[in-house]
Amino acid sequence: MENRVDVWLEKLTLKEKARLCAGADLWSTIAVERLGIPSLFMADGPNGIRKEQNDVLLGGAAPATCFPTASALGSSWNTGLLHEIGRALGKECNRLGVDLLLGPGINMKRSPLCGRNFEYYSEDPFLSGELGAAFVTGVQSQKVGATLKHYACNNTEFERMTINSEVDERTLREIYLAAFERIVKKANPWAIMSAYNKVNGTYVSENNYLLNDILRNEWGFQGIVMSDWLAVNDRVNSVEAGLNLEMPGPADSSCEQIIEAVHAGRLDVSTLDNVVRNLLSVIESVSEPRKMDDEWNFDDHHLLAQQAAEECIVLLKNDRQILPLDPKQIASIAVVGKFALSPLYQGEGSAKVNPTRLDVPLEELRNIVGSGSDLQFAQGYLEEDEPNEELLIAAVSLAKEAEVALLFVGIPQGEACDRTHIDLPANQINLIKAVAAVQSNCVVIINAGSAVGMDAWIEAVPVVVDAWMPGQAGGGAVAKILFGLTNPSGKLSETFPVKLSDNPSYLNFPGENGKTLYGEGLFIGYRYYDKKEIEPLFPFGHGLSYTSFEYTNLTCDRKQLKDSDPLTVTIDITNTGDCPGMEIVQLYIHDQACRWVRPEKELKSFAKVALDTGVTKTVSFVLNPRDFCYYDSALKMWTTDTGYFTIMVGSSSRDIRLSVDMYMEITCKPMVPMNENHPIKDWLNTKTGRDAIQYIGEHHVKDQKLKNDILNHNMNAFYLQMPIYKFIKLLSSGDKEANFLMDKFF
Ligand code: BGC
Repeated sequence: MENRVDVWLEKLTLKEKARLCAGADLWSTIAVERLGIPSLFMADGPNGIRKEQNDVLLGGAAPATCFPTASALGSSWNTGLLHEIGRALGKECNRLGVDLLLGPGINMKRSPLCGRNFEYYSEDPFLSGELGAAFVTGVQSQKVGATLKHYACNNTEFERMTINSEVDERTLREIYLAAFERIVKKANPWAIMSAYNKVNGTYVSENNYLLNDILRNEWGFQGIVMSDWLAVNDRVNSVEAGLNLEMPGPADSSCEQIIEAVHAGRLDVSTLDNVVRNLLSVIESVSEPRKMDDEWNFDDHHLLAQQAAEECIVLLKNDRQILPLDPKQIASIAVVGKFALSPLYQGEGSAKVNPTRLDVPLEELRNIVGSGSDLQFAQGYLEEDEPNEELLIAAVSLAKEAEVALLFVGIPQGEACDRTHIDLPANQINLIKAVAAVQSNCVVIINAGSAVGMDAWIEAVPVVVDAWMPGQAGGGAVAKILFGLTNPSGKLSETFPVKLSDNPSYLNFPGENGKTLYGEGLFIGYRYYDKKEIEPLFPFGHGLSYTSFEYTNLTCDRKQLKDSDPLTVTIDITNTGDCPGMEIVQLYIHDQACRWVRPEKELKSFAKVALDTGVTKTVSFVLNPRDFCYYDSALKMWTTDTGYFTIMVGSSSRDIRLSVDMYMEITCKPMVPMNENHPIKDWLNTKTGRDAIQYIGEHHVKDQKLKNDILNHNMNAFYLQMPIYKFIKLLSSGDKEANFLMDKFF
């Protein structure tokens, strides 16, 4: 029996097909009423629904829950939580009439300067992939689609609509595509948004390699690829490359170009049909009645947003265990900083949500403290980074008189604009220094979407809390953490460098002359700091707790592994402190045997475990063969080499508690196709090469020592590095003989 999509496809005229390939307006696809094909409505996310109420790009959105932004959620390391948030967003989409959510954003945090970092989870593809997959399954459990964005290598806002990201194949696969691949395979997202930029010379929206070869043919993606807003440059090429939907619409000239190309025989109608078929399949999913669930209200989602924010907040430093504060023990508290009163809880641009309500940190602190302590507020600085002596003096004198100062600082950021440095505004730095000079119990609370430079002031303050951009309920979450009603459990999903110039992309970011060169290759984030032995300010995976955890009994179910075997790793974690808490247990691998350069550590699994005081839990991780692989760009496959791996389990990337070695045996690795330019050292690994080398040694070499060296495969580097053709040419009697021997053996 023919399905509905086939029937639609058969009945659509060429013009209708071409028109379907672009939006009807800013937010919806075209409906074909005569065939009952409905329109699909989409809205931005990812940390809340931005459903514009009028047909405008950025205007007045309908109220929706503003959850913590992605960089905050990245620090939760909690896939269950991401799933819950996805579900909640799916429900809000249904209530608001949204079919497709334009999120999650899963680009890698290559530089802390990228303006959209607050929309991205991490510098690590595994962590981003796991969190993104949980989010997508949550959204889609409500029969609403999720859209992975921005595919791919959209890691700077600088010239974002035209820049060419130059990235080598291995880096592309292991770092920049890996999270997309994981989510496509694990969660089956309905849609992917193609990024504005070019990758290796071709716009992503027209990039056959990225869209057809990799996304559809290798990974088996079934959904639709839609362009980022205005990311299409050549509509016919983009149809050829498999881009289903140009956004926004209407795009009449694109439609005409498609029709013309078909008529002129430049575009095969079957290619157009394939593109339309994917689109119709997704549209068909929304033609079913919407999954309405009235069992929730915005208060429930506000509560979820608060629980989420609590899990995202990272306690970076807590000297003298100043936190948690006990209101009963503290008579006076100075709350300093504008962001305590006007919270910096989300970023600017397409991700900006109109919150259903907003928790103000100052009020939330007051609620907890009650009448027990005297809590006073001083603004301290102007948001615009203008010096203001009066505000500074008032804040310092308030802080001096109090027993504790809580300093709220932060960096606003948003779409389309990268930052030029990673420091707090100068007026905020001055404030921190001035307050710390008069108040030894100084707690700095940061709101930002990315790593923040602290070199100028970190030594002067005992406590630093990173509250990220925690969403509409962040104020309450911060207050609960500061007063110990919640034990902090977030850990950094990106490295905080001592200074910007330590960051691996520093010399190439944001790019010039229309290009951004990914010169650091695989070595982004902790992969770089580890390899270069650079001490970060705070490492990837770092975050403190009010309790402590002990790691014991690391075991692997095998000591020897064949390339197709899974490996189960278990470890016991005990809460050895005096309050309940959650620990994020991280598993990294190190490949000791790789022929190619590999990072010192690669995150391959993690778990967040809740433990009461004194309780031990066994955590187990399963590693699959692919987890051990690197991408061999010569063989064009995921592979690894025979030898030892180290399995490391720890509390951060720089706090490995236990490790164990295991042996991996590779049984089925094809040879790299070799040619006359491959060196002797490689040809010695092949029978053909050994035969040819032996022949030369026996028949053409007179010098006895060299003959012996050749026959015993004991040549020095001069010969070992030499391409085989040149070796044969040197030792045989000239070109003619060399060509004869090459033909004979190869
Ligand atoms: C952004 C996308 C967003 C779209 C629609 C673009 O500028 O890059 O992330 O989904 O606008 O608002």
